[in-house]
Amino acid sequence: MAETERHPFLQGLSKHRGAPPTVVVIFGASGDLTARKLIPAIYNLGFDGLLPADFFLVGYGRKPIADDDFRKDAAAAITEFSRRSLDPAVWGRLEPNTSYISGGYDEKAAFDRLALHLADIEKKIGRELQPLFYISTPPNVFAPILVNLGASGLAAKYLGQPHHAKVIIEKPFGRDLDSARALNATIRSVLEEHQVYRIDHYLGKETVQDLLVQRFANSIFEPLWNRDFIDSVQITVAEEVGVGSRGGYYEQSGCLRDMIQNHTMQLLALTAMEPPGSLDAESVRDEKVKVLKAIQPLTIGPAGEVIRAQYAAGLMAGKQVPGYREEEGIAAQSGTETYAALRLSINNWRWQGVPFYLRSGKRMARRVSEIAINFRRPPGTLFADESARFDLAANTLSFQIQPDEGLSLILNTKIPGLETRTQPVKMSFRYAATFGSNTAEAYERLVLDAMIGDGTLFIRGDEAEASWKLYTPVLDYWRSVGRTGMDTYAAGSWGPPGADALLASRGHCWRQP
Ligand code: BG6
Repeated sequence: MAETERHPFLQGLSKHRGAPPTVVVIFGASGDLTARKLIPAIYNLGFDGLLPADFFLVGYGRKPIADDDFRKDAAAAITEFSRRSLDPAVWGRLEPNTSYISGGYDEKAAFDRLALHLADIEKKIGRELQPLFYISTPPNVFAPILVNLGASGLAAKYLGQPHHAKVIIEKPFGRDLDSARALNATIRSVLEEHQVYRIDHYLGKETVQDLLVQRFANSIFEPLWNRDFIDSVQITVAEEVGVGSRGGYYEQSGCLRDMIQNHTMQLLALTAMEPPGSLDAESVRDEKVKVLKAIQPLTIGPAGEVIRAQYAAGLMAGKQVPGYREEEGIAAQSGTETYAALRLSINNWRWQGVPFYLRSGKRMARRVSEIAINFRRPPGTLFADESARFDLAANTLSFQIQPDEGLSLILNTKIPGLETRTQPVKMSFRYAATFGSNTAEAYERLVLDAMIGDGTLFIRGDEAEASWKLYTPVLDYWRSVGRTGMDTYAAGSWGPPGADALLASRGHCWRQP
């Protein structure tokens, strides 16, 4: 394929071309994530020529599936979900190296069979393969899988060499501080931390990585990136979708666990952390942990710093949609929040006194994820008359994570004419306009990074715990009060009134992205 078809970000990145011969084993191979994201990601890496010449894929699941059927399912998944259509030449290289093993997750003998299967492949090609295990199952079997990876010797395979066994763990990483600690303890009993890749797919998004480039590759932002110049920060991750067919999972989770504790906190950490000494995994994650630990415990309860709400019936794109408690698999009296908004204070030299507002919700007016940095207003003296009439705006720098990825800056500008009248205008950069729109998906980058042993874009164990430490008291409180204090918002709106009040108490208001 032509070099120009490759994603520009991947061109010329030599470390990403150096993945050793690898076998990826997916636990949960017949699951939704495997079909929607993992198989298409692997296929696209193959398309871009980023997989090693010796690459094998093994699906593992409870369901008995013949190798041929698994291959057919994989091809169907690529056809349906890949960003590029199925190229027979690319798939022709992957297909014969794809196989399936069925077994229970707590069945040691099945893991021994898996170990033999991997050894057989190695014997056949006459070389060692780096084992990369991808745990993409429901969380109740994370621990048995880890234990059996240990017991079967797979977890320690090639330890001490660069192509040692590696394990990617999907979310959710625990459901509170205790369970995250327990999971970390199980991990530590079979793996060394450097073998572990805890996924937060937001870190694989191009624009999230660009946040670091924008902050640290440009000299104009960093001098302003502090309490002296920044008034507040708003992080929004709004979705149009409802819970759909995921009611069973979502009822047990809710917005705080599903989105805030992980995705929005990662956005916050990258926005607020100190410049790392280098871009290696430990330096970046050390800085992220430091800033997460500097966040003050939240004030909880009536008039506290966290708002929760559920969507009620409403209109989405002109179509009537049901409320959360009318959705399939949801209890009529459900106490699970589909929206959360909060105010965080970071107690360090850089951010003291700057509120960080976070919000996320399902069935909101528009799908948009963005980070908005609101700068302090200029002193109003010079344009006082005009600004009274024409609104001298605060400068806002916003990183549009998705969709319509880009960056924009709001500046006050003179309206042409004899009078000095001002108007806020937006200066924008759009990825699609500059780089084209067929960018790599988050999972492509993340699977490749794990394959080359780069943990920068993955969550470290202490990072997961630092975030849970902040939110566990909130979850405990909500559990203790049931539905008391649960707000509602109409599907298709920007959230409940309580979220507006949270900002209004500090003289702020939410952006309408
Ligand atoms: C997942 C959540 O982690 O992220 C989902 O479980 C959510 O509920 C999804 O819809 C959002 O991801 P994205 O990439 O579509 O913004």
